[in-house]
Amino acid sequence: MPVEMNALAGLQPQTAFVPSSSRAAGTAHRRIRVEDKSVINSKADVNQLVPFKYKWAWEKYIAACANHWMPQEVNMSRDIALWKDPNGLTDDERRLITRNLGFFVTADSLAANNIVLGTYRHITAPECRQYLLRQAFEEAIHTHAYQYIVESLDLDEGEVFNAYHEIGSIRDKDEFLIPFIDTLTNPAFKTGTPQADQDLLKSLIVFSCLMEGLFFYVGFTQILALGRQNKMTGSAEQYMYILRDESMHCNFGIDLVNQIKLENPHLWTAKFREELTGIFQKAVELEYRYAEDTMPRGVLGLNAPMFKEYLRFICNRRCQQIGLEVMYPGASNPFPWMAEMIDLKKERNFFETRVIEYQTGGALNWE
Ligand SMILES: [Fe+2]
Ligand SMILES: [Fe+2]
Repeated sequence: MPVEMNALAGLQPQTAFVPSSSRAAGTAHRRIRVEDKSVINSKADVNQLVPFKYKWAWEKYIAACANHWMPQEVNMSRDIALWKDPNGLTDDERRLITRNLGFFVTADSLAANNIVLGTYRHITAPECRQYLLRQAFEEAIHTHAYQYIVESLDLDEGEVFNAYHEIGSIRDKDEFLIPFIDTLTNPAFKTGTPQADQDLLKSLIVFSCLMEGLFFYVGFTQILALGRQNKMTGSAEQYMYILRDESMHCNFGIDLVNQIKLENPHLWTAKFREELTGIFQKAVELEYRYAEDTMPRGVLGLNAPMFKEYLRFICNRRCQQIGLEVMYPGASNPFPWMAEMIDLKKERNFFETRVIEYQTGGALNWE
């Protein structure tokens, strides 16, 4: 190890900044080089964004900022009228909406806490941290959006926000996630051994591929199916924006996982892959039970068995994205229209209602 790196070696990577006044005598400051950077366990100064090494992360940060939106810009008046109309929605549609929100109102808080209190500390590439900061704010916007829908429809807040304790199919999904969040948020957890680095990688995979990449998809499909039938179009528009953000979170997480694999190939053992396959299988089962619970009968042309195929299809896709064997060969997508929605470009004004353009922003007025 070069002598100037020794001065930093005893510090945690996330705090590895040594002011010149406290630097040990004889250890010279040296400017960061691209090759000093790594996604985990880097000893390079995390406060220096440049020189860029992970341009894909920086580009995602820029793209995410260009997609900025706020929940209160979406007109909810048609949803409110429909919800209040006693003949506006069937009981099954109402159950679907409240159970759907029951998962999402707390899910994005879990996601935000996982980033801020967990993931962020262990990632040592400043470009990736920059994206994680943006992602954390987007999770706050998503929680805001779900709360805004609950408030607009005047739903029972206690019932919706406690669903993750009180509704079995929602509680089971969250209880599945908690150990992986606890790993990263545990103050005593440190990367730097093969075991710890695998634990980090496992939590990152669970979050990107299963939480954001699988557990959200029954819920998104349901509300967007309502919107396609011209029902709850304000809520559907909120979900469209959230879906666009989440597909970027999922893709960023997968890029992060693949970069860590590239830099640390020793972590990707057969035993580790086998463990991951078991975790993926469990997640597919849990999400399918949630589909059954939210749709005990067919509703909106959807039914739970269609989701069995859809979840297997998505799971295969996630496996391919991180280099695992496909788990359900031959599974196909029963909702091709969802793929179109995910691919929407930001220029598209989904329901022709939104007028604010953030890319130009508001100019400061100095008068
Ligand atoms: Fe989110
Ligand atoms: Fe997310």
